[in-house]
Amino acid sequence: MTPGEGQPAPSGDSDFVVVANRLPIDMERHPDGSVTWKRSPGGLVTALEPLLRKRRGAWIGWAGLAEDDVDTIDEPIVEEDLRLQRVRLSAEDIAQYYEGFSNATLWPLYHDVIVKPEYRREWWDRYVVVNRRFAEATARTAAPGATVWIQDYQLQLVPKMLRMLRPDLVIGFFLHIPFPPVELFMQMPWRTEITEGLLGADLVGFHLAGGAQNFLVLARRLIGANTSRASIGVRSRFGEVHYGFRTVKVGAFPISIDSAALDQRAKNRDIRRRAREIRAELGNPRKILLGVDRLDYTKGIDVRLEAFTELLEEGRADRNDTVLVQLATPSRERVESYRMLRDDIERQVGHINGEFGEVGQPVVQYLHRPVPRDELIAFFVAADVMLVTPLRDGMNLVAKEYVACRSDLGGALVLSEFTGAAAELRRAYLVNPHDLDGVKDAIEAALNQTAEEGRQRMRTLRRQVLTHDVDQWARSFLDALAGTRDNS
Ligand code: ADP
Ligand code: G6P
Repeated sequence: MTPGEGQPAPSGDSDFVVVANRLPIDMERHPDGSVTWKRSPGGLVTALEPLLRKRRGAWIGWAGLAEDDVDTIDEPIVEEDLRLQRVRLSAEDIAQYYEGFSNATLWPLYHDVIVKPEYRREWWDRYVVVNRRFAEATARTAAPGATVWIQDYQLQLVPKMLRMLRPDLVIGFFLHIPFPPVELFMQMPWRTEITEGLLGADLVGFHLAGGAQNFLVLARRLIGANTSRASIGVRSRFGEVHYGFRTVKVGAFPISIDSAALDQRAKNRDIRRRAREIRAELGNPRKILLGVDRLDYTKGIDVRLEAFTELLEEGRADRNDTVLVQLATPSRERVESYRMLRDDIERQVGHINGEFGEVGQPVVQYLHRPVPRDELIAFFVAADVMLVTPLRDGMNLVAKEYVACRSDLGGALVLSEFTGAAAELRRAYLVNPHDLDGVKDAIEAALNQTAEEGRQRMRTLRRQVLTHDVDQWARSFLDALAGTRDNS
């Protein structure tokens, strides 16, 4: 008999389990057979890692490399307070489930089709297979009655699969990227399966109330479920989907960062010294602009480079006294749209430096690599203007990190309206990234703000970021999740 047909799957001993496509660390295998680990990229890991350590949970995910024998069950890696359980992916799983369905279908579809999503049946089939592998690994790890928290778009079928394997579990799901408008979601050939997959959870969370609202409409339209029409509020007012004998709660939970830890770290003497050194290494320009992103087409890196070019051309930014630093973490490098993006950005950087730089004095400094955490904090402390210009972003933690690092009340944040963060950080210089003149005006205003105006804005931004941290986000989600059982 297969699990789910009457016989519950065997359980493990973890009471709190997080399931995400990636583990917080990537495994690197070297030619001599040795193995090292490095931090894995992205905001999901930034947000969840400190939290999991505090709660001593188990984390189920992929170690970031291709492996044979995907059915091998590895021993968990116990790292201080974390218990990491690997799910193996083969080269073909990576090509079809990760690069294909997750990042060439779902990612662009959920980000306003900035590039055209590809709908390929073999990718979908592999997405189903790999989601089942995650569900089975979770069923083996979770203790009876445990709380399981499934993360993000790569694993949208896991809630339903896991419920069939282990009806005793309390299951939450959180989407870290935007949930698209109904009209766009309806393109998806497997829209009903995905909606049903998510409805396997007791609580489905989104960053913004709009995403939750869209999901309710789809549950009604695609599944024929009865849904509450109550408006959904951040953290407090939930929607409900009545689905079979169950009620699924739907809510908005804007994610955040470990604000206090970052605030403290940014005050450290060595970091402040390093920030001064960075300024000196850049030639002590009057103004430093900074971009920090995964190299992703959603981030609008091209928008800020174009705006900067025109400001230099028009003499509204001084080429001798202004430097833009762009730190770009390599991302999804085998996906075609990411390769093209990299070529475009590097061409643009070359063009700007060719036009406006001098030998030994480029106007754009571009690094295509992740920088160590403390170095990144020093860059945040050094930067006069932070440029966060995505065309679409679920939240954008970089914006919040910058604010958390500015206890000196210096600096200015230019922030796209199309990020989740814009709903909270209203005193940033908000821009529509499709309106290049508007972006230029905002950058110019940020470059020339008076110290007093900058302080006022930053004070308000910091109040928001320091009082809404990732702990509060997790607590509100997990409290709401626990509440779904209390009422049943
Ligand atoms: P996403 O999750 O789409 O990558 P976020 O802005 O939410 O975007 O989170 C990105 C995370 O990755 C942040 O914690 C940020 O500090 C980190 N990060 C981004 N670029 C770099 C870089 N070049 N070096 C080091 N860390 C980076
Ligand atoms: C975003 C996604 C995460 C993802 C991260 C890095 O934050 O929401 O799920 O892990 O980007 O992307 P990658 O494809 O490298 O895991």
